[in-house]
Amino acid sequence: MLSDAHVAELARAARRRVGVALDPSKAQMYHLRLTPIARREGLTHPGELIEMGLMRPDDPAWDVMVDALLNAETSFFRDRAPFDVFAQAILPELAHKRGDGDKIRIWSAGCSTGQEAYSLAMLLHEAREEGRCGAFEVIATDISERLLDRARSGAYSQFEAQRGLSIRRLIRHFERAGETWRISDRLRASVRFINHNLLHDAGQLGMFDAIFCRNVLIAFDAETRADVLERLGEAAHNDAPLFLGADEDIAGGMRCFTPSRVHQGVFTRITGRAAAA
Ligand SMILES: C[S@@+](CC[C@H](N)C(=O)[O-])C[C@H]1O[C@@H](n2cnc3c(N)ncnc32)[C@H](O)[C@@H]1O
Repeated sequence: MLSDAHVAELARAARRRVGVALDPSKAQMYHLRLTPIARREGLTHPGELIEMGLMRPDDPAWDVMVDALLNAETSFFRDRAPFDVFAQAILPELAHKRGDGDKIRIWSAGCSTGQEAYSLAMLLHEAREEGRCGAFEVIATDISERLLDRARSGAYSQFEAQRGLSIRRLIRHFERAGETWRISDRLRASVRFINHNLLHDAGQLGMFDAIFCRNVLIAFDAETRADVLERLGEAAHNDAPLFLGADEDIAGGMRCFTPSRVHQGVFTRITGRAAAA
């Protein structure tokens, strides 16, 4: 098992690099996740990996270790309700506002292996095919190149595909290759996966009509959460909705967002004087 001192060093590295606050009570899980990395380096114990890293604070090994500790849990149409709200309440208004003008732009921030971004692309494709919206683009970002590589491949196991997807959508948006379900080329082309750290300025990503940042803020401490909400606010058009996870709120981000009066888990980018105050 990792010592308290090892966990404290890991927590320092995770906080500095990705803003994530590690939980000391999960020392055993961190030990298990780091063990294969230690073995690859010819070491017997992950504690040795941390001690080696301590001698070289800028060693890329820290990035590999922090990456292995990220919580990447996700699924297609996770929790269902936010996607229904998006499709039934938000998208029709957005489509009306845009008409045949600029593309509708949606951001999946902290996209893990891509299921959230592809779920949104499915909704938008279906609406487009049925003449309910015009052109769109989904930008999906994460800090982990390992997770983004998987997302870009668009390939999911039977188990992953079954979690949250109806048979109708599997047939409509996927091709089957043996035990793997692969997102159709057309759907894949509408999602752009980009490596982006939510602690950094998001200006290069452009402005968004809706942001999904679900089950990401929960891993940050209060100060980091407030910083990240501020950056999300800077990337959101006035009145744009921000979708958070079921257990998340905008404490610390009230300057930019206000809870939707109608939809739980949805927050609206504040416009005008309230935002500037
Ligand atoms: C639990 S997953 C959530 C995935 C998806 N949003 C969902 O709700 O199903 C959290 C994701 O946030 C990413 N993440 C954590 N810290 C980050 C940061 N500082 N910048 C960008 N992504 C980060 C992790 O790599 C992970 O993929």
